[in-house]
Amino acid sequence: MAQHNTQGKKGGWAFVCGFALAFLAGWFFFGNHFAVPPLYGKKTQPVAFSHKVHVEDAGMACKECHYLEANGRWSGIPKLDKCIECHQEPQGDSKEEAEFIKNYVKPHKEVPWLVYSRQPKNVFFSHAAHLKIARFNCKVCHGKMGYNDRPPVYVYSRLSKYPQHTVIVMEACMKCHKKYDAPNSCFTCHK
Ligand code: HEC
Ligand code: HEC
Ligand code: HEC
Ligand code: HEC
Ligand code: HEC
Repeated sequence: MAQHNTQGKKGGWAFVCGFALAFLAGWFFFGNHFAVPPLYGKKTQPVAFSHKVHVEDAGMACKECHYLEANGRWSGIPKLDKCIECHQEPQGDSKEEAEFIKNYVKPHKEVPWLVYSRQPKNVFFSHAAHLKIARFNCKVCHGKMGYNDRPPVYVYSRLSKYPQHTVIVMEACMKCHKKYDAPNSCFTCHK
């Protein structure tokens, strides 16, 4: 009986210590007491592209730059040639545009854009299934992206090198698939 009690107490202390350690580790690695926790790195996009300027001020539609091609392939982020249609000649006198012209348009160099929603290699995703058949709005998955005046800071995991998702994570994919009765077996999304 006495033995039982000490065992219970030891277990209790192990639990408390374990919990405290896990808590401290969690605080250290994931807490937001640093501007960016040490497991994550930050990058800025190579060009200060403004969706607001192009969509609101220049009146462009999303599908002029992002669309499903005839074969169902997703165009993604437009190539430099699309930008050159207008930026062959300066469109204004902003520092951002001048830099873009100097670094990319003049030398005809593709912009190495960072993709915030980039998924790990073992995940299969197709815009066609979600836009053509299910007809979702971009905002359902991308939120405010597409309306910002400046691309947000790109935060990525130093371990996996993948961006830190806030919206499009497995849990969110599966939750929506469940809601709409879409296939939800592992092999739907993992190859
Ligand atoms: C002039 C061409 C152009 C137009 C028009 C445009 N975009 Fe973009 N879009 C870009 C470029 C360039 C990027 C890469 C830079 C960035 O992330 O801001 C981008 C990035 C994005 C991304 C980020 C994807 C990711 O995960 O990295 C989303 C979402 C997006 N656009 C949605 C939209 C929506 C919605 C509209 C219409 C309201 C729109 N875009 C209109 C050129 C355009
Ligand atoms: C339909 C014409 C058109 C296309 C296509 C276009 N732009 Fe622009 N862009 C403009 C106009 C208009 C402005 C605003 C110029 C101003 O008033 O300063 C602008 C401004 C910019 C600026 C300065 C942003 C700022 O805050 O003022 C950058 C950088 C830029 N564009 C990059 C791009 C890139 C990258 C692409 C291709 C993905 C692209 N543009 C495609 C018309 C276009
Ligand atoms: C059901 C969720 C969902 C919807 C709806 C959606 N996207 Fe995406 N989008 C994603 C995912 C997930 C990725 C990353 C794909 C990958 O890495 O394989 C992505 C990537 C992108 C990219 C980055 C370039 C690329 O293709 O890799 C752009 C730009 C983009 N989406 C724009 C849009 C626009 C514009 C719309 C609306 C017309 C839209 N998306 C609708 C989930 C969605
Ligand atoms: C907003 C709701 C929603 C989100 C978020 C979403 N999906 Fe879907 N997805 C659907 C619906 C609905 C379908 C069924 C479309 C159809 O075929 O009618 C579908 C279809 C698919 C298909 C094709 C399935 C098949 O065999 O027909 C794949 C693959 C897929 N989604 C992967 C993903 C991945 C990966 C994510 C997260 C990165 C994701 N989806 C996020 C709603 C969503
Ligand atoms: C509707 C789409 C979808 C379904 C269904 C799905 N996953 Fe995922 N899974 C994802 C996406 C997107 C990611 C990457 C983003 C993340 O880590 O949340 C992921 C990530 C993972 C990871 C982590 C990989 C890594 O490198 O971090 C594992 C493990 C995993 N899935 C296993 C499974 C298993 C097992 C099933 C079946 C029970 C399953 N998934 C079903 C979309 C899905």
